[in-house]
Parts: sequence; C-alpha cells; structure tokens
Amino acid sequence: MVLATPDELRDRIRQLGKSAAQQNEPHFVAVREIVSRLAAQEGALLPILHEVQHALGFIPKEVVGVIADGLNLSRAEVHGVITYYHHFRSEPAGRHVLEVCRAESCQAMGSEAMWQHACYALGLPAEGGTASGGGITLQPVYCLGLCAMSPAAMLDGKPHARLSVQRIDALIDRAVEA
Ligand code: FES
Repeated sequence: MVLATPDELRDRIRQLGKSAAQQNEPHFVAVREIVSRLAAQEGALLPILHEVQHALGFIPKEVVGVIADGLNLSRAEVHGVITYYHHFRSEPAGRHVLEVCRAESCQAMGSEAMWQHACYALGLPAEGGTASGGGITLQPVYCLGLCAMSPAAMLDGKPHARLSVQRIDALIDRAVEA
C-alpha cells in the first residue's frame, strides 16, 4: 500500500472541505429540491433536466452527480442525455438565445443557409455557441412545431416563422442592440 504524503493529505482534506461547502451553494440546493420533487415520476430525467435548465439557465457540470445520485443513474448516463439533446446547455447562455430550426421541413425551406449565415454573422463556428461578449447564443433546435410556416426560429422563447436570411439578420440586430 502506498501512503499519501502530508502534502497530498492536506490537498485531499482541502478538496473535501471545498466539496462540502459547494453542496450548500444555491444551485446545488435548487437542483436537490428539483430532484427530490420529481425523482419518483416515470421517466424523471428529462423533466428534471428541463426544470434545472429553466431554474439556472443551464445545467452546470457539477450538478450532474446530484441528478445521477437522485435517480440511481451513472453520471455518464446523465451526461449522455444532456449532450444528446441540443436544447440542454452545460454553459451559461448569452443574454439572448436564438434557436434556429434545422429539422427536415425547415431544411427543405432553406434553414441551413440561414443557420450558416447566422454563424458567420455572429463569428461562431459551424455548431453555433455564444458570441464573444456573451450577447447572444445561437443554437440549433429540431422542430418548433411551426413546420407549416418553415423556416422557423425562436428568439428568447418567442417564435418567428417564414424566415429568410434578411429576417434572421434583423433578429440578430434586434438582439444585439437590446
Ligand atoms: S421542422 Fe422546423 S418547425 Fe418543424
């Protein structure tokens, strides 16, 4: 057996103290409340993730363990679901969130050109993200239920339909100026 050096022991004690203090931070308290309220319902993971993101604006990496423990799942399982759905964020969003639909009906009506244009206009990579300065987050969404009025997008929760590159520009300008 290899014994820890005094420095290693001090580090471990410091880490334990840090994680105990972390457990009392408001976002841990909020997540524990959400988990305890919803854990018993069938298929609780998605409703919990939605509520956590609604409450905190994103799902901090450090609360994944709280959710996993509450549902008797592994952290990898919870992480897998968070990364599978584009709707969930592991980082805080910008002040405004622009969600551009990239599902079939919108694609058929030109949403890919709109998406690429929005990435370019905001100086973001092809997968979107948060523009420098934190003003606006661009993220894909897969159907907003507005297929009959494709292509569609949502700015700060408000739907916009029958869009074009020019109208996406106008939405971006409005968000950046607000
Ligand atoms: S495919 Fe875009 S709203 Fe349905």
